[in-house]
Amino acid sequence: MLSSLNPRVRDWRGRRVWIVGASSGIGAAVARELFSRGARVALSARREEPLRELAGPAAQIGSALILPMDVTRPGSVRDALQTIVDRWQGIDVVLWVAGTYRPMRAYDFDLADAHRIVQTNLGGVVNGLASIMPVLIGQRSGAIGIVSSVAGFNGLPMSLVYGPTKAALINLAQSLYFDLHPLGIGVHLINPGFVETPLTELNEFPMPAIVSAQTAANRILTGFARGEFETHFPRRFTGTMKLLQLLPYRLYFAVVKRITDSEAARGAPPAFAPGAPIRVPEIARPANASPGATAPSGSAAGDSAAEAVATAKAAAEPAAGADAEAAAPPAAAKSANSRSGPRRPRSRKKPAAVP
Ligand SMILES: NC(=O)c1ccc[n+]([C@@H]2O[C@H](COP(=O)([O-])OP(=O)(O)OC[C@H]3O[C@@H](n4cnc5c(N)ncnc54)[C@H](OP(=O)(O)O)[C@@H]3O)[C@@H](O)[C@H]2O)c1
Repeated sequence: MLSSLNPRVRDWRGRRVWIVGASSGIGAAVARELFSRGARVALSARREEPLRELAGPAAQIGSALILPMDVTRPGSVRDALQTIVDRWQGIDVVLWVAGTYRPMRAYDFDLADAHRIVQTNLGGVVNGLASIMPVLIGQRSGAIGIVSSVAGFNGLPMSLVYGPTKAALINLAQSLYFDLHPLGIGVHLINPGFVETPLTELNEFPMPAIVSAQTAANRILTGFARGEFETHFPRRFTGTMKLLQLLPYRLYFAVVKRITDSEAARGAPPAFAPGAPIRVPEIARPANASPGATAPSGSAAGDSAAEAVATAKAAAEPAAGADAEAAAPPAAAKSANSRSGPRRPRSRKKPAAVP
């Protein structure tokens, strides 16, 4: 029999797990399941209240940590991880679930939403890795699981920006495996099909083979128990999506168009009048274009205009981290400053210090 691609994680009792994106949906369901299996779970997302509810009495006895943070701010991610390793003297599993979605097509493209999706789904993971990788590598143990999506397999209608971020995560997890596996560190790629969560409430189209968040949580933990590199579910749907990847484009486009009944011309704006001058639309400032661009999911209140501007700035410039930190609260800003100098050797007293 072939050996598993990752060290197997079967017994969760006492394991130190960090779930990023735990305030609802898949992340919350995994957290509930892990509490019931005896793990210690650190819970992160932007909204603190749902994290508190989820932790319940586990927070009092120290088996839950509530660490609100925003993945688009590398300093807040770093500070959360430092708290975990200080409290628990290390970490066993990081499960990165945080993500955001909005169906988008070529003719309803919104720059602010596009930046928000890229910054959260891909930028967030990159921000996380900057802190997580040195800790796992220093420990020579542990595992990271990254939740991507079947939307990352191939281009799909409605997935104009979301899909590419998920495709990037698949590629990223594959690259990560080459570096971390030889050091004894697990890398798990999780590609769900449709799961019933607040995120899919936005979809107005039929979602084939949709499963509950609890089913998703069980399947993810089975993937860890088997030491799988890729965990995809439900197989009756994800298997088909994998087969579609093998088709030549001519067939792929025809089949997906048929399955999704996706007619791009429907809903498109009228064509230019013949002979009329063509005007390229002005680029709206992302912050103004979508005031709720950085609002927590499920929250009616948007972030402040200043934060939205900072997010938009961060999205537009390569040095995104530095700009995002500029708008971060003092604690996060402080940690960013302390990272700006040349890399120092890790202190012996704090082996699990997060750079
Ligand atoms: N549902 C599906 O059908 C499906 C399918 C494939 C893949 N996925 C992926 O599964 C993951 C979880 O999605 P879900 O369906 O469970 O949706 P969900 O209920 O909306 O969960 C998203 C989680 O991400 C957190 N989050 C979003 N932006 C964040 C930020 N800037 N900083 C920190 N946390 C942030 C949210 O918390 P706050 O709002 O409190 O910050 C929430 O906890 C996503 O990556 C999604 O792309 C979902």
